[in-house]
Amino acid sequence: MNHIITGLAAAAVLAAGAAQAQQSIVIGHSLSPTSHYGLGAQAFIDTLEELSGGEWTGEQAPAGQLGGERDMIEGLQIGSLDVVITSTGPLGNFVPEVYALDLPFLFRDYDHARKVLDGEIGQELLARIDENNLVGLGWSENGFRHVTNSQRPVETPEDLQGLKLRTMENRVHMEAFEDMGAAPTPMAFPELFTALQQGVVDGQENPITVISASKFWEVQDYASLTGHVYSPVAILASPILFDGLSDEEKGWFREAAKASAAATRAEVNRLEDEGVALLRENGMEVITDIDKAPFAELAQEAYKVYTDEHGTEMVERIQAVE
Ligand code: PAF
Repeated sequence: MNHIITGLAAAAVLAAGAAQAQQSIVIGHSLSPTSHYGLGAQAFIDTLEELSGGEWTGEQAPAGQLGGERDMIEGLQIGSLDVVITSTGPLGNFVPEVYALDLPFLFRDYDHARKVLDGEIGQELLARIDENNLVGLGWSENGFRHVTNSQRPVETPEDLQGLKLRTMENRVHMEAFEDMGAAPTPMAFPELFTALQQGVVDGQENPITVISASKFWEVQDYASLTGHVYSPVAILASPILFDGLSDEEKGWFREAAKASAAATRAEVNRLEDEGVALLRENGMEVITDIDKAPFAELAQEAYKVYTDEHGTEMVERIQAVE
């Protein structure tokens, strides 16, 4: 009898232990739950829950609730956040090698960018991230960035002259826009909508995914499909969380990142097909037929921000990927 009581007590203790063992993560990102980031965050959570048999659950902290992307990356380093879906915009401030991915007019198209990030170069850069008190779980995507503004249609670099343009807090982007003739103003994304509304800046640059998720048509009249830079996304984890996981759990997180990237890329593809019509329906004048060569020529100077420190090898390797 004693044995039975002991057995039942042990079962109760085990059950309590199992309940305590259920773990929950918070995934921070800058956009709405219905955006390409929101869909990616949900796919991450669903996959993690499924692979772990419900042992791990998660929730989103969307729309910059936990700050701009730079703040969220710092949150990972001090362990106040578990996972972050972020553009590489501010990541070069933490992992300078990543600036290579932000060079203007480097990637030819989506196939080229995805091949680089899913291949050897992507893996190497994830390893650099891991050396800087962060964990790189995988690469996802924001899309090719385009210029919007409230002043005039931008068709040539002359149209950019003097335009106060919000950029990400990224040295390569700031240099490129200065070279192309704009007045770049770095700013964290959560401040951007109000800054556009109040005329603190005339314009901004982001992919169609972000222009539509943020309803920038409410404060911007013109969108020019400059496609001046591809905007990769890093799915990052806190080393404070990750280092405490078993190998099996680490595998679940990496699989969850893959599922997240696939869901995000599917939404990017959808908006590449349908986004221009959406912007027009919402009253924007969209300039699609842009000669990119003069922009690209001026933006070449920005390569020095990266190559002066790291040489040209990585740039050449990226360009050589077919
Ligand atoms: O413009 C930015 O800061 C980024 O593209 C955004 C919108 C936060 C998405 O990563």
